[in-house]
Parts: sequence; C-alpha cells; structure tokens
Amino acid sequence: MRILVTGGAGYIGSVITEELVARGHDVAVFDNLAKGHRDAVVEGAAFLQGDVLDGEALRGAFRTYGVEAVVHMAADSLVGESVGNPGKYYRSNVVGGLTLLDAMRDAGVGRIVFSSTAAVYGEPNKQPIEEDDPLAPTNPYGETKLAFERALAWYERAHGLSHVSLRYFNAAGATDRCGERHDPETHLVPLVLRAALGEAGEVVIFGDDYPTKDGTCVRDYIHVRDLAHAHVLAIEAIGAGRAKSRVYNLGCGGRGYTVREVIDAARDVTGRPIPARVGPRRAGDPAVLVASSTRIERELGFRPRHQDLAEIIGSAFDWMLARRRRGGARPAA
Ligand code: UFG
Repeated sequence: MRILVTGGAGYIGSVITEELVARGHDVAVFDNLAKGHRDAVVEGAAFLQGDVLDGEALRGAFRTYGVEAVVHMAADSLVGESVGNPGKYYRSNVVGGLTLLDAMRDAGVGRIVFSSTAAVYGEPNKQPIEEDDPLAPTNPYGETKLAFERALAWYERAHGLSHVSLRYFNAAGATDRCGERHDPETHLVPLVLRAALGEAGEVVIFGDDYPTKDGTCVRDYIHVRDLAHAHVLAIEAIGAGRAKSRVYNLGCGGRGYTVREVIDAARDVTGRPIPARVGPRRAGDPAVLVASSTRIERELGFRPRHQDLAEIIGSAFDWMLARRRRGGARPAA
C-alpha cells in the first residue's frame, strides 16, 4: 500500500515507518521537523517536509505519492505543556487534524490509522481500562486527541472514511536505529537512563503516596516496536476491508510497573547506580494506567512480543550507548 505517515520523523513515527517499509509498503513521511529528526527516517521511505496545518502541501503529497492510506502521528503530546498552552494543542491536534481529513477527502484517500492516547480516559475508575470505559480527559492533550477521534466518526458518516484509533499507553524502548530523542525530555525511561549515564541529575520520583504497592504510579510500558507492529496490523486490516472504524487500546499484556520498579529494572540492566529521590506529585498524573488489550488481540491478532520490562529498557539503553559511540549528539539532541 502507498502510505503517508505524518510525524514519521518522530520517536514512534520513525519506528512505524521502519516497520511499514520492512513489510514492503511504499511509505512517504510528512513531518515539519519541529520535533522530529530527518536522520530518523529510514532509507527507503520518501521524505517531505511539511506541516499538517498546510492543506495545499498535503494535497500535493497525496497527488505526488498516489497515497492510499494515512498513519497520522503528527501532534503535540506533552500533558503539562497542554495545560499551560491549550491553544497550541487545539491548533496542532484539532485544526491540523481537520486540515488533514479535508485534504484526504479532497484527494479521495479513505483510510487512516490515528495515534491516540490513554489520556482520553482521564482518571479511570477501574483497571485494566477497556475501550468502552468513560472518556473524561483531564487535560487539553487528551481532550484534543478525543476531539479528533470523534471527528473521525463524523467523517466516516459523511464521507465513508475508514479509521482505526490506537490509544497508546506508555511507549518505551528502541530499535537498532530509532530511539527517544526529545528536547526537553520528560519521560521516565529516557530520564532514568540518562541518569545512569551521568548525563542527567538524580531522578525525581513524582510522589510516593499513591494507592499502589510501593506508593509510586503504575504505568503500562509497551515496546515501541510492538506499538509499530500494531499499526501495521491496523493499516493492513483497513486496507483489506477487514477492520472499519474501530478504537483499540494498545498496552503490553495487561500488566503495569511502578516508577520504583522501572528504576530498579534500569539499575539491573545498566549495572549502574541511578540516584533517585522522592519529590512532590506531578499535577494530572493518574495513580494507575493499565490497558486491557484484549480487543486488539481478538480482532487484529495483536500480541506484544517484547513484554519483559528489562528487555524494553535494555533496548533503549543499547540505542543510547550506540548513539554515543557514533559520536552523535547526546540523547538530548
Ligand atoms: N515520572 C517520574 N519522574 C519523572 C518522569 C516521570 O516519577 O521524572 C513518573 C510519572 O509521574 C508517571 C511515570 O513516571 O507516573 C511515567 O511518566 P511519563 O512522563 O514517562 O509518561 P506518562 O505516563 O505521564 O505519559 C504517558 C504518555 C502521554 C499520555 C499519558 C497518559 O507519554 O502521552 O501517558 O496519561 F498522555
């Protein structure tokens, strides 16, 4: 299939592009490089620098590449930032998303896989979370992702769009060539590994008074390679007409880990001390977020292949070390 990946130069998008190319699809990446990296785009994929707010550029890309389906990753995705700057999130995630959908409609592109998030559930009242549980986002990030999910359903009704939304839990890990390079970095796994390498100060654990086994928050960490594989299954299913207009959670086998367990696992994997101290809670952090992934397992045959936390963390560490050896910028680049 000829697939356009918006945001395909970012952390998760670059791994999805890698997987799609490996499966024999023709992929074009469309990314404004505001946060992505040109060198993260695998050889074999075309690259077009552009913004999803630019409908003309999108229509041009659809024409040039004869696009049949879209994987939509381009977005702003920091919870804390979204609370302070909601306009930015409505613009990128809603206005940008609608610009994309209108360009798809104009070009007759009728299939999309959308990168959604566990943040659409807000503070869930039960675990593991199922897709039909209440949707009550507590920040503009989750709110704007949900708004786009809902727009997809209306575009389906009006224009026959086929869509799959994948609600990610906590992506982590790396492939040989693609890993996490955010600036600033806010995610736990890369911060812990930078601390192990002496490139960041001590890890601050955001609260240890949650109702969990050791008092720290529980999250469902899924290997980015598994996450990418789920996109391949989803796009191939809608391409073949086997899936239409579905929403799936994407977690790692229904099990979560506390912040302390992640730090301990990273100490084991790296063999290095990782200084950590407890700080105050971070606003907006739910105590536990664990996915029920049974729907995607049942309907698309998805099974995570890398469920071991040490393996997930180890892959991210190997990528960081390799990057250092190559003399690339430090992970903060
Ligand atoms: N944490 C710390 N210290 C840090 C960083 C994180 O203790 O320095 C904790 C957080 O409080 C949280 C856990 O580690 O309990 C994981 O935090 P991340 O920032 O790595 O990830 P989040 O769970 O906050 O965010 C993820 C996705 C978001 C999504 C959100 C759903 O990255 O896109 O889940 O709530 F919105």
